[in-house]
Amino acid sequence: MENQYIIKGGTPLKGEVTIGGAKNAALGILAAAIMTDETVTIENLPDVRDINVLLQAIEGIGATVQRINSHTVKINGSTIGNITIDYDSIRKIRASYYLLGALLGKYNKAQVALPGGCDIGSRPIDQHLKGFRALGATVTIEHGMINTFADSLVGNHIFLDVVSVGATINIMLASCMAEGRTVIENAAKEPHIVDVANFLNSMGADIKGAGTDKIRINGVSKLHSSEYSIIPDQIEAGTFMVATAATHGDVLIKNVIPKHLEAISVKLIEIGATVEEYDDAVRVSADHRLGHTQVKTLPYPGFPTDMQPQIATLLALSEGTSTVTESIFENRFKYVDELARMGASIKVEGNVAIIEGVEGFTGAAISAPDLRAGAALVVAGLVAEGYTTIDSIHFIERGYENFEGKITALGASMEKIPVDDERAVMKFKLKVG
Ligand code: EPZ
Repeated sequence: MENQYIIKGGTPLKGEVTIGGAKNAALGILAAAIMTDETVTIENLPDVRDINVLLQAIEGIGATVQRINSHTVKINGSTIGNITIDYDSIRKIRASYYLLGALLGKYNKAQVALPGGCDIGSRPIDQHLKGFRALGATVTIEHGMINTFADSLVGNHIFLDVVSVGATINIMLASCMAEGRTVIENAAKEPHIVDVANFLNSMGADIKGAGTDKIRINGVSKLHSSEYSIIPDQIEAGTFMVATAATHGDVLIKNVIPKHLEAISVKLIEIGATVEEYDDAVRVSADHRLGHTQVKTLPYPGFPTDMQPQIATLLALSEGTSTVTESIFENRFKYVDELARMGASIKVEGNVAIIEGVEGFTGAAISAPDLRAGAALVVAGLVAEGYTTIDSIHFIERGYENFEGKITALGASMEKIPVDDERAVMKFKLKVG
């Protein structure tokens, strides 16, 4: 049964929230885990849909997946009997293409369905394939499948034409057991790249320079077992930071790496919010209407595209005219029409959103167009006067664990109820008044 969120807006978020493990690091790490025949234990996994779908794909190729609890899994790749990832898996979760790099790196062959476009635009993977070819693999695309094989993989110098998180991770996977040395230039520097590299190194790989734009990988002959805990999710944390500022709340956001949040903190401070950094927490508060600014999404350490809809929502409520420029993906403004239904005044011209701040939103029935846009609409609902219902929340559940539970614990009124269940709506309204 499809669910929706119902929110009664207007309550400032107050209290403490604990951030879970990074989804986008976990996707790379789970794929990497199949590269050894020994058992790997991964902790601090977020319990979200994308992770659970990738774990199914990993089981689908014959690896042993043992759920210890909702945040810990043991994986053993010695039982893999199949090197094909079908379209059904890739359609549900694009990042199952990390199994292409992992399987190619381990068995010198892999077959993975070619992902199509997605909710945020056309997403080519030419840089991934260019990297595999540079390592000596033959790569062909036939009948919607990418086929890769190599007699042996040999390290090479690879210069990425665009800074790509996915290509950087996939090439690290494919090259960590190749012969000799691989250098990736113009590599992505996101925290999850560093986490995947650290995990591979904990399995015996020799990867240096992750987190800079030049990564050097000395091939090793074998990877071994490891126990590893995933870093906190930068984007979940950023979403709570923005939600706190938007509702004029005061929240201690725990289990974060403040350095990963700097681009977000700086913008919040610039528009008048207070952000205090601790060792592994940030506290965000705002007690007045915030100001306007310009934001442009860029690869890390720039402002993350995965926070673009959330910050635009906050700016739509702030004083004056702001602009938000999306420079990574071509179709990431689909939430603008939904926000307009709540009273926002945003005009999109090409890849720039021109935002005239309004005093407030009013609740409406809206629909989540994709994961981060969906989270932004939740922020909008938390601020809006009256009731907001958001459907297509399966998008949001791809990346936010127990979103409604964490938000409710901060004092807001939000529930997950079945779509078209009038009685559940009535019950919620009676409860929250
Ligand atoms: C990762 O996607 C994230 N996904 C995305 O998070 C995130 O938005 C994105 O990085 C940017 O930070 C995962 O980590 C699983 P890219 P990815 O390759 O790897 C172009 C979320 O909400 N490009 O860094 O697919 C591409 O079109 C998601 O959690 C090529 O041209 O992003 C884009 O313009 C959504 N050729 C730019 O590079 C290629 O071969 C950056 O894409 C690869 C990418």
